[in-house]
Amino acid sequence: MLVACVEATENPVGTTTLVPENGSLAPATSESAASGPDIANGARQFKGLGCSGCHRTDSTKLVGPGLSGIGARGDDAIRTSIIDPSAIIVDGFNDLMPKTFGDVLSDSELDDLIGYLNTLN
Ligand code: HEC
Repeated sequence: MLVACVEATENPVGTTTLVPENGSLAPATSESAASGPDIANGARQFKGLGCSGCHRTDSTKLVGPGLSGIGARGDDAIRTSIIDPSAIIVDGFNDLMPKTFGDVLSDSELDDLIGYLNTLN
């Protein structure tokens, strides 16, 4: 009875989770631009580059504005805010954001980061 129960649960889990995961991971790792931004990589950039030290992902102000709903600004404005922060200063904030992100981020990393920011509500 115990054996039958274990077999019944292991088989479907093994086949249903592994097949689609392989299918969706393969294109994302080989060429992210072809399949849209890699949101998970964008989230890693956000933490790894220290964005999260100044920005919350909700609406709470830290050193910089909370970034929930930032997607409404549009990709171009977000891109400018990241690579040329002095070009647009958000009302009520100072020009404190580092100016070097454009030098350290590749185009595809920047796309991933913007893709991630677009998911913040
Ligand atoms: C040292 C603190 C600091 C760090 C680190 C930082 N920012 Fe900022 N950021 C700010 C401040 C302050 C502002 C508001 C002034 C301005 O517009 O430049 C801002 C503004 C922004 C805006 C515009 C927000 C709006 O409402 O239009 C975006 C988008 C943004 N930051 C994204 C990022 C991302 C992505 C990173 C990491 C790559 C990052 N920031 C790292 C301080 C920081």
